[in-house]
Amino acid sequence: MYFIKQIKRVLCLFQKEQVTYANITYSTPANLLAGKKILIIGGGRGLGAAMAEKFVNEGADVLISGRNNKMLKETSEKIGCKYLALDVSDVQSHDDFIRQADESLGGMNVLVNNAGISLHERTFFDVTPDSFDEQINVNLKGSFFMAQKIISLWLKRKQAGTILFTSSETGEMADYRPYGFTKAMINSMTQGLACMFAKKGIRINAIAPGVTCSDMTGRKADDDLTFRKNALGRVYLPEEVAETAAFLISECSGCISGQILTCNNGRSINTRLKQYS
Ligand SMILES: NC(=O)c1ccc[n+]([C@@H]2O[C@H](COP(=O)([O-])OP(=O)(O)OC[C@H]3O[C@@H](n4cnc5c(N)ncnc54)[C@H](OP(=O)(O)O)[C@@H]3O)[C@@H](O)[C@H]2O)c1
Repeated sequence: MYFIKQIKRVLCLFQKEQVTYANITYSTPANLLAGKKILIIGGGRGLGAAMAEKFVNEGADVLISGRNNKMLKETSEKIGCKYLALDVSDVQSHDDFIRQADESLGGMNVLVNNAGISLHERTFFDVTPDSFDEQINVNLKGSFFMAQKIISLWLKRKQAGTILFTSSETGEMADYRPYGFTKAMINSMTQGLACMFAKKGIRINAIAPGVTCSDMTGRKADDDLTFRKNALGRVYLPEEVAETAAFLISECSGCISGQILTCNNGRSINTRLKQYS
């Protein structure tokens, strides 16, 4: 697990003014997640799919979920995991879904609450009651009740478990849009639940990525990665976030709970010392 391999990938096209490379470090798979039975909510594409691939490579049994059955099937065949359809905003369906997922995995000991949407309203005045509800229902309500059901299952079984929420760097910043509010609330929930269940052997953390390639941001890994607002001057790749996620659900982070690990090279730190802005 401590062997580090440097992989240099040329991830952009030569453009007139600037070429941006991502120099990514992958840890060599070392069965870090052997024995983990992982349920990923929102795993068919984007960050969730990159996490699923990393977790499988680290020896875990993984089940991915989401609304798009076709994409789930394709991704699961590509990386070698299970899948089950779910609209996480439909909280009435959680019991049935958990029963089936649990059966399929043969028990579960990790939940990754990654499903999220951003409707990118242009201004405060473009937020509507519908756009507000939609983001709250997926990002917050869906995540909250999924966590509630899974924790209750673990308590009933007197078993340990780990939850990882996907928050966002926006959760640490003042915002005028529901997306940012949902991530701030995810941070509060991560800390509250971590304190509440520490003695039961349940660890709860969050990752808070900066702007990363995915459908949500419209940035593609094989395109120009330049993004001046990020501390590195480029967008992140889902695989980078997946490395951090693997650490947080592994036994290597056994003493870490209630933490929101921001994956943005310090962009959201409030300081007058920044050189890159
Ligand atoms: N990309 C970034 O820059 C960035 C930065 C910070 C945080 N994040 C967070 O990272 C997470 C993943 O986003 P992404 O960037 O990978 O975006 P993405 O490519 O758009 O993926 C979103 C994922 O969420 C699932 N999802 C959405 N609505 C759902 C629902 N109602 N029920 C079940 N699953 C649902 C999608 O699956 P289906 O379409 O199959 O339902 C998909 O797997 C989100 O929580 C997002 O807020 C992203």
